[in-house]
Amino acid sequence: SLGGSLMDTKIYHFKEIDAAAKDLRDGQLVAFPTETVYGLGADATNEDAVKQVYKAKGRPSDNPLIVHVASIDMVEKYAAEIPDKAWKLMKHFWPGSLTIILKIKPGSLSKTVTGGLSTVAFRFPNNQATIELIRRAGVPMVGPSANTSGKPSPTTAQHVYHDLHGKIKGILDDGPTQVGVESTVLDMSTDQPTILRPGAVTKEDIESVIGSIENNHHHVGKNEIPKAPGMKYKHYAPAAQVYIVDPSDDWADVANWIKSLSYPVGVMATSDILAQQDWADNAEPFSLGDDVVSASAELFDGLRHFDTEPRIKAIVTQAFPAKGLGVAYMNRLNKSAGGMHFADRQ
Ligand code: TXA
Ligand code: MG
Repeated sequence: SLGGSLMDTKIYHFKEIDAAAKDLRDGQLVAFPTETVYGLGADATNEDAVKQVYKAKGRPSDNPLIVHVASIDMVEKYAAEIPDKAWKLMKHFWPGSLTIILKIKPGSLSKTVTGGLSTVAFRFPNNQATIELIRRAGVPMVGPSANTSGKPSPTTAQHVYHDLHGKIKGILDDGPTQVGVESTVLDMSTDQPTILRPGAVTKEDIESVIGSIENNHHHVGKNEIPKAPGMKYKHYAPAAQVYIVDPSDDWADVANWIKSLSYPVGVMATSDILAQQDWADNAEPFSLGDDVVSASAELFDGLRHFDTEPRIKAIVTQAFPAKGLGVAYMNRLNKSAGGMHFADRQ
């Protein structure tokens, strides 16, 4: 079945934020830009609208949503309490790429938002258009990444359109996002603050403000219950197998391996590596720019680029040292590769 008629998905520009805010207040789904990735917005206080978010993404209902705010006051309405350390972090990093999980004020937001948990995640995104959107709508906004569940997160309005057109009211277009990987998720609902998902705000950044914290974003095994429900699902995976090319690998071996294959292979690497090797005709380059900062901004665009070409059966992607932003980059790359390294290929 066609599952009902498709709606026209409109593109709002900066001048049309009022129209986007009105659509949100009317219970419609509006995708929005942030500095990390695009989100799929709905009024967090409107149960029906929030349910539509899960439906449009094909997202499992036990995977809670981040509540996006445009002030710390908005958090006070929905959090049971804001511990001192959480205050310090909000003052220091907001607006920015740090999501903070707090105990929820009972009854203040629906079970649909929190996936039935007694906690809720808050984020104040660093994007002027979206800050305006939330202020004008006058309500907090749920916002998972605006991709079909399981696909790489969207870093452009075109990515959102590709996955969700016909299913959402509109997309507030503010060009490509800057960071390119989703926010750091920090659980502050227990005595020991713990990073559940690494992002651009690093463990060291956080520790410089509140002292020692924990990490809990290792690969989650089949029988383990992850703290962030989203971590148990397959993620960022294009149709082709992704191979991680480690710093210890020789790119000449990668070029030779591709030469031996009969099908086209995507090559995601920095410009200098792409320029240095003698690539066979079946190697299809995608530049990650110069360093881990540009590579993080480009990673999802590259994976999506090759995902639109069914001829591509394999993608080799450059690893970066897991420090600073490299922790988040490698976390996403590992998931998209299902942990497969070039050195382990058959
Ligand atoms: O950068 C971002 O965070 C983007 C932009 C749009 O703001 N949003 C985003 O949302 O990545 P989403 O839904 O794709 O990822 C949120 C993650 C999921 O893994 C979810 O399970 C976890 O945060 N999460 C949300 N609320 C939680 C809670 N109360 N306890 C534990 N984990 C939670
Ligand atoms: Mg997501």
